[in-house]
Amino acid sequence: MTEKKTQPEDMMEKIISLAKRRGFVYQGSEIYGGLAGTWDYGPLGVKLKNNITNLWWSMFVDGREDMYGIDAAILMNPEAWVSSGHVGGFSDPLVEDLKTKKRYRADHLLEDIGVDCKGMKIADLDAAIREHKVKSPEGNELGEVRQFNMMFSTHIGATDDAASVTYLRPETAGGMFVNYKNVVDSFHPKLPFGLGQIGKAFRNEIAPRDFIFRVRELEQMEVEYFVRPDDWENQFENWRKEMWKFIEAVGLDKNKVHELEVADADRAHYSKRTIDFEYDYPFGRKELYGLAYRTNFDLTSHQNGSKVNLEYFDEETKEKFLPHVIEPSLGVGRTMLAVLLEAYTEDEMGGEVRSYLKFHPRIAPVKAAVSPLLKNKPELVEKAREVFAMLKSEVPQIMWDDNGNIGKRYRRQDEIGTPFCIVIDFDTLGENPEHKDTVTVRDRDTGEQKRMPISELNAFVKSAIK
Ligand code: GAP
Repeated sequence: MTEKKTQPEDMMEKIISLAKRRGFVYQGSEIYGGLAGTWDYGPLGVKLKNNITNLWWSMFVDGREDMYGIDAAILMNPEAWVSSGHVGGFSDPLVEDLKTKKRYRADHLLEDIGVDCKGMKIADLDAAIREHKVKSPEGNELGEVRQFNMMFSTHIGATDDAASVTYLRPETAGGMFVNYKNVVDSFHPKLPFGLGQIGKAFRNEIAPRDFIFRVRELEQMEVEYFVRPDDWENQFENWRKEMWKFIEAVGLDKNKVHELEVADADRAHYSKRTIDFEYDYPFGRKELYGLAYRTNFDLTSHQNGSKVNLEYFDEETKEKFLPHVIEPSLGVGRTMLAVLLEAYTEDEMGGEVRSYLKFHPRIAPVKAAVSPLLKNKPELVEKAREVFAMLKSEVPQIMWDDNGNIGKRYRRQDEIGTPFCIVIDFDTLGENPEHKDTVTVRDRDTGEQKRMPISELNAFVKSAIK
């Protein structure tokens, strides 16, 4: 058996096609021709996504004593986004095709011809566009580079005047800052402590691209960790380590993840230090996650904007102050894409090329598939149903599969990354008395089968998915 990692050039096509064929990710509103920057998660995609978000929640919220989970509304009072600086400053540098009036990201056009845009301000980008005589993808002249706000606005209530405007949140963080005081009042946590949230955020990306990498409707897993001002460096280091632990636990190759110290000019307006965790995607080394030191920028701005005192009162020292914030921010879609890319493997088995997803069993959407060897033998089906019910009662992500012949089932389960295929055959029923009440368990990666007593199956699957 020779294992081959697919070449980067065709990797994305293979992943996108497998994701659609097997029900992981579909194009958003596909029957209407799609909607750029939106993707829908299918039955297996939602299982995989839940496994990722559940892992994050158990590591970053439930597994800790200092974390409080919340689920805030996506629509917020627009004043919150004025205070946070997003109304004024959450923008991308755009340039317009003077003929078609289509807009493009100036930095993307420059990067496409090999210009490194790190640290460039609007004027630098504009100068670079002129210097390199960059044209639009249609070959037309480009206008001046301008900032373009990325928030989606909408109207609340029956009127659609300026007073009714609000925004779909561009980051889940906002919902945590406005609930910081609620949590302090309900739980009286001691510093350091954090709020954690998983949820949707929306950005009017001018150039959504690379499948689920850059989308307009995204999902984030974020922590706002409140610390004493003089403790930020220590806590920043702690969260850096926690992020690496998550990267490992979710099954990513650490050698493909790289830290990047973000330059002053490239940091978000609220950050005094940011490390990007970049991943080697087939389309280049790009941001997977971010870790930011947001100082007390947000609590100060929300205190000023809301006129509500957000100071923390330290019972021990009797001090009052606005805590500083460390923010590990992880994208769900970018994790899922990296996990899919990492898992995609091709090899040769039984003289045929096979492609399969080598997920860690912890992340695999289906942990095991249960089949009767032949679906037209009621005695095999009955026993297989018994085994299936027993396993499913303890590990819900078990699939019943009696479709097609056994070879086809194995291929299908390999392609969706099911670590184990459990088959009930005539030996299980006692045809060979030595094997009575045992089943075959086939390993996805090696294709090897071993017999195992039914009584050991639950423990076997549970220990594999830990
Ligand atoms: N609260 C901080 C924040 O939102 P960010 O660097 O803008 O910081 C954090 O985003 C993470 O959200 C990114 O590292 C990435 O994983 C994910 N993300 C951001 N924009 C995205 C987009 N358009 N599509 C998919 N994921 C995105």
